[in-house]
Amino acid sequence: MTEQKSTNITWHKPLVTQADRETRNRHKGIVLWFTGLPSSGKSTLAHEVERRLFEIGCNSYVLDGDNVRHGLNKNLGFSPDDRKENIRRLGEVAKLFADACVIAITAFISPYREDRDQARALNSQGRFIEVYCKCSVGECEKRDPKGLWQKARKGELKEFTGISAPYEEPPTPEIVVETDRCNLEECAQQIMSYLEKKGLIP
Ligand code: ADX
Repeated sequence: MTEQKSTNITWHKPLVTQADRETRNRHKGIVLWFTGLPSSGKSTLAHEVERRLFEIGCNSYVLDGDNVRHGLNKNLGFSPDDRKENIRRLGEVAKLFADACVIAITAFISPYREDRDQARALNSQGRFIEVYCKCSVGECEKRDPKGLWQKARKGELKEFTGISAPYEEPPTPEIVVETDRCNLEECAQQIMSYLEKKGLIP
């Protein structure tokens, strides 16, 4: 649990609620939380889903691990504690987006189950959708667009998820996309269909 350091702070209740914004935007404020090994396709799929949501008039925004580590989280590395803090902060950011009725699409490895569950717990029931990008180590390693798997195999990169750092599979994600079996189009469609079926988007 992160320590609450500030005192004498009061919660200010907003005049415009999430429900008001949802009525105006004609979609729900949700968090689409992608998780999976490096090179499992999280970012590619996240951006494809964002494009499709944009086309049907939904407000969405991709929060991408590499990008956020250039700014907000530039002081964090890849130790277990730093990854935990990374996900804690981003869980809070994603929740703010959802509150503002933007569909927050996150693409972080988020290797620890406990940290993902903490991010989930910030949101109301049904508003946090965990999307597991399931892909074999062999296939991730074959893709390796950034050359990091290769670097890690050679021992040039420490604490690399999938080789020298753990990845804990989600036991009950809302959606599993098998990115080594289905193509981008099929995976994106699977996610869009889920959102439609649940009445989260038109
Ligand atoms: S997380 O584990 O804290 O969720 P995050 O998604 O933010 O990770 O960042 C992962 C990205 O950082 C990867 O896509 C990769 O490009 C880069 N990266 C650099 N070093 C590592 C490492 N040791 N393990 C995993 N990813 C790394």
